[in-house]
Amino acid sequence: MPRLRSLLFVPGDRPDRMVKALTLGADALIVDLEDSVALTNKAAARTAVAEFLGHARTTTLFVRINPLDSGLADDDLAAVLPAHPDGIVLPKAEGRASLAALDAKLRGDMMILPIATETPAAIFSLGSYGGVTPRLAGLTWGAEDLPAAIGASASREADGSYTAPYQLARSLTLFGAHAAGVPALETVYPDFRDIDGLAAYAARGRRDGFTGMMAIHPTQVSVINAAFTPSAEEVAKAQAIVDLFAANPGAGALSLDGRMVDAPHLKAAQALLARA
Ligand code: COA
Ligand code: MG
Repeated sequence: MPRLRSLLFVPGDRPDRMVKALTLGADALIVDLEDSVALTNKAAARTAVAEFLGHARTTTLFVRINPLDSGLADDDLAAVLPAHPDGIVLPKAEGRASLAALDAKLRGDMMILPIATETPAAIFSLGSYGGVTPRLAGLTWGAEDLPAAIGASASREADGSYTAPYQLARSLTLFGAHAAGVPALETVYPDFRDIDGLAAYAARGRRDGFTGMMAIHPTQVSVINAAFTPSAEEVAKAQAIVDLFAANPGAGALSLDGRMVDAPHLKAAQALLARA
């Protein structure tokens, strides 16, 4: 699986922006055929995206298709699959059934990244993504569509933090991803002029166990990459833990700088080194 710290959305009906997006340092692009493309532009966007996928592949390219039950998804796939995207982002995913349904339509080693919290039913399927297909590249979530689906007037408090229902959706995505053994990826930070807010948000995601995040604007990419890249200090600390256990074969709990380290610390250190 490729490294997925930052995944930058680009509307599929903006060929200029898709080409530009290749140069912005994002680990992956998500060229979009869904919400950022008006219904009247879907056909033109399919053509533009297929053409864009023909460019020399300098970064991982996902295509977000329309939902499986939209009546648009099969035409989206027919247009883009011949151009071999690296992966498909599935909006309004509802657990293993929708993952298996998309899996059956794909060939080769194409990845699938579900957006897993956009309908009420989706919330009850977040623990079901494991063991379905090796295509599963991660799990991500969204806080924009669900409020509309349930008649909520907002998903955020006045200070920008999520209301309780969306904190739950975020937490279940985090645990659902890890239960399935794939990366948990944070949702977009829509206020793209608020770089400090983004940095703080991404840092909280990293702290909580997300290993990457989606972006909507070029200015967000480097901030997100930095937030999800282990620092030299963190790498050194993780290496010290791994070295300590290697030097003490058979030991379960050891002490490092006056603190206990045992199996979960070793596991976390190994995971961090794998990402560094
Ligand atoms: N990918 C590539 N380039 C982008 C970009 C993106 N997602 N968003 C902005 N840019 C470029 C613009 O083309 C512009 O380039 P230029 O200086 O060469 O002209 C530059 O960045 C500055 O853009 P700006 O004027 O700040 O943004 P905007 O007001 O034109 O657009 C958005 C704002 C939100 C509409 C735009 O960022 C966007 O389309 N984001 C993605 C939306 C999306 O895909 N949503 C679906 C998932 S939530
Ligand atoms: Mg949406």
